[in-house]
Amino acid sequence: MKLNWAERWAVNNPVRVMVQSQLIRWMNKVRVPGPEAVVLEVGCGRGAGADLLLKRFQPRTLHALDLDLKMIQQAKKYLSPVQRKKIFLCVGDVEHLPYGDHALDAVFSFGVLHHALNWRGGLAEIARVLKRGGMYFFEELYPSFYQNFVTKHVFLHPEQDRFVSREFKEALAKVNLAPLRCLERERVGILGIYIKKMNSLTSLNREGHQTPEPADKGHQRNE
Ligand SMILES: C[S@@+](CC[C@H](N)C(=O)[O-])C[C@H]1O[C@@H](n2cnc3c(N)ncnc32)[C@H](O)[C@@H]1O
Repeated sequence: MKLNWAERWAVNNPVRVMVQSQLIRWMNKVRVPGPEAVVLEVGCGRGAGADLLLKRFQPRTLHALDLDLKMIQQAKKYLSPVQRKKIFLCVGDVEHLPYGDHALDAVFSFGVLHHALNWRGGLAEIARVLKRGGMYFFEELYPSFYQNFVTKHVFLHPEQDRFVSREFKEALAKVNLAPLRCLERERVGILGIYIKKMNSLTSLNREGHQTPEPADKGHQRNE
């Protein structure tokens, strides 16, 4: 779901850039994408996160995707011409990612899945596009933060089937993502670094049903 004017204002400002910079610093403490990595940021907004990710990790390829064309247009203005050559911006939906299975080394998402109507489908998509051993770095918020008696009048979010800690962690486990590092505030949200399990022999399709996962090169089993 696209942001309303209030949340657009809340994320498109220098304070948010400072917060995101701290989040990425925290994420940088565990195994991070190397210079050969192919990385995606979903829900990239105006591109401030992609800018920070490029500076900190220098991945070989950085894709940045957002549902909202206006955000992508803003990102084109926010990023310098040099950065624009290294960051592939596209309009897209986390629930239907335009990448092949096992294509990416890492996916980042800052405050995005709680905006997705089908957040479980979005999570399944993130797991699908990650290589085995690939990393999912995220920041997510809980309804007690974004739908409390004040914020529900200011911001716009989907209301059905929202998640708190338990549902989100169960859904991560269901798509074979295992925790490496987690920082959680009960009534606020969660920061996480998860890894796609190496020995996962099944994956979930967009409907959440298990399907056999084709063996990656180098991980083939002789049976
Ligand atoms: C709260 S903003 C966060 C923006 C930026 N990541 C940040 O941290 O400042 C959520 C972003 O996710 C995007 N978004 C919402 N639903 C989405 C979806 N289904 N697929 C991709 N992006 C989505 C919105 O357009 C918005 O730019």
